[in-house]
Amino acid sequence: MYRIAVLISGSGSNLQSIIDESKKNKKYEVAIVISDRECFGIKRALNENIEALYLERKTYKENINKKIDEVLSKKNIDLIVLAGFLSILDEEFIKKRENKIINIHPSLLPKFGGKGMYGIKVHEAVIKADEKKSGCTVHYVNNEIDGGKIIMQAFVDVLKNDTAEMLQKRVLEEEHKLLPKAILKIIEEKNN
Ligand code: GRF
Repeated sequence: MYRIAVLISGSGSNLQSIIDESKKNKKYEVAIVISDRECFGIKRALNENIEALYLERKTYKENINKKIDEVLSKKNIDLIVLAGFLSILDEEFIKKRENKIINIHPSLLPKFGGKGMYGIKVHEAVIKADEKKSGCTVHYVNNEIDGGKIIMQAFVDVLKNDTAEMLQKRVLEEEHKLLPKAILKIIEEKNN
């Protein structure tokens, strides 16, 4: 079975969509969930009987990379999914796992990505720029923040009276469909 590790920092709604799809499809399993802060996502993992590890970012600081590396090296992981994970992974960690780490970002990259572009800030920037379309992107992780090769995107219209919160909500609904789809695509490509 294809084994996935999911790294989170927040509510974990994307994590939930990955778990739900794994139950339907049985093409992969979530082997472990790691969080760098106390969050609802950890609860979701435990509710599903998935191993969950909380590594407090304030305690580990930059050593969090080493710790995650240590844990995952023992777990036989095929793919690492960053689903709202806010700590930055270092060069060494990423280099060791080329094309083995993916991330979901709530904009149409390369637009509205990079340092400081996360959460509601992304959608505020999209509205401020008067964009007509937004969406989300699943991409491979390299050393450039939100800069790796794009795997899949989904699109959302920006409506005339949208607030950042309204747009965020609609983009998130697309994220929940896109992330499992991208994972299945990667697995399929690997099997061909
Ligand atoms: C999502 O918008 C994701 O794109 C971003 O962080 C958010 C995580 O939400 N990277 P959740 O924790 O999956 O609910």
